[in-house]
Amino acid sequence: MLELNHISTLKLGITAGGQLAKMLVLAASNWDIKTYVMDADPSCPAAGQCTKFIQGSHTDYDSVYNFGQQVDIITYEIESINVEALKRLKAEGKIILPDPEILETIQDKGLQKQFFSRFDIPTAAYQLFRDKAAILAAIEQSTIKFPFVQKIRKGGYDGRGVVIVNNQAETSKLIDAPSVVENKISINKEISVISARNAEGQLSHFPVVEMEFNPEANLVEMLICPAELEPEVAEEAYKLADKLISSWKMVGLLAVELFVDKNNKVWVNEVAPRPHNSGHHTIESVVTSQFEQLLRAILGLPLGSAQLKMPAIMLNLLGEPGFEGPAQYEGLREAMRIEGVKVHLYGKKITKSFRKMGHLTVLASTREEAINKANQVKNLIKIIA
Ligand SMILES: Nc1ncnc2c1ncn2[C@@H]1O[C@H](COP(=O)(O)OP(=O)(O)OP(=O)(O)O)[C@@H](O)[C@H]1O
Ligand SMILES: [Mg+2]
Repeated sequence: MLELNHISTLKLGITAGGQLAKMLVLAASNWDIKTYVMDADPSCPAAGQCTKFIQGSHTDYDSVYNFGQQVDIITYEIESINVEALKRLKAEGKIILPDPEILETIQDKGLQKQFFSRFDIPTAAYQLFRDKAAILAAIEQSTIKFPFVQKIRKGGYDGRGVVIVNNQAETSKLIDAPSVVENKISINKEISVISARNAEGQLSHFPVVEMEFNPEANLVEMLICPAELEPEVAEEAYKLADKLISSWKMVGLLAVELFVDKNNKVWVNEVAPRPHNSGHHTIESVVTSQFEQLLRAILGLPLGSAQLKMPAIMLNLLGEPGFEGPAQYEGLREAMRIEGVKVHLYGKKITKSFRKMGHLTVLASTREEAINKANQVKNLIKIIA
């Protein structure tokens, strides 16, 4: 356990330095914690706000190891950290939360699925394959049936590395890499629950949110809280998220993405051991934000209230397709004219098609009003080059 008498001299290391790190740094600054951020890009979102920025790649063993030497405790905002370096730091007594062994499992969608099976977590039936040829052979032998979903085991994100294959013709889209192949679920809704757990085993979960996807970019476009769900469906989602974080004995946050199918059955899709896009609204709309909750969990503090203060919608601000270069923002003034619209800009210098450049939180006294306002503000802001 960390000594908290000197919280303001505590050195918290965060890899890497994207928007999640930036928002974590901002939360940590409320308690005057010293934040050390490592990222390969010196102009990354968190670089301007942290106490000390260190240039280095989060995938590089030496960079992660050396970074770890400089701080008291390490957490992360992205899964693809060099886990070998984290494991060595842990063996040498450094506090790394969530635990690197859990991160190692989650980094590999195959191991993740096996963990779900081991703990009887409902998840789409799956098989593991070493490459594309093995998947094609299994189709030939009818051990895989259409439609199915291929997911590369490592390194996919934001829908990259996920291929939905509906028929033989679409097998040309298959990726040649070690993969999970799973049944395609008839999704009615995609939802997410973020659970938190501290070292004492105290649990808390944020209210379930509903995710709406941009079909073109396969990125979450609008996230709605509270989600519109039958109470027993929401309860099942909370139960699964809490069961997962407890089964892992995790200390930190676990973001759990779930599907609700046409029969109202709840399936776990995948998990992330870090703050999540679906928790951004908590900054304004929940008593304790996901970032403060992560700090409370990893610093051995009591978890804060996860009570929703008012309905909220989160809209990602994505780079306008077809533009690449220094970012320019259009329509911010018009957006801010709408009551309850809160703007977050991540400070990424370069915009690209569908790059996450910021987000908006839209607050209102009812869910319907929040949705109306979100639809109003949705097309006002454009990020071009
Ligand atoms: N078994 C499935 N059945 C139907 N649709 C699926 C299935 N698995 C994934 N999808 C669709 O593909 C999307 C992306 O899948 P997944 O979340 O596993 O990938 P990802 O690249 O890690 O995504 P992200 O980083 O955006 O969370 C899901 O949100 C869902 O819309
Ligand atoms: Mg996902």
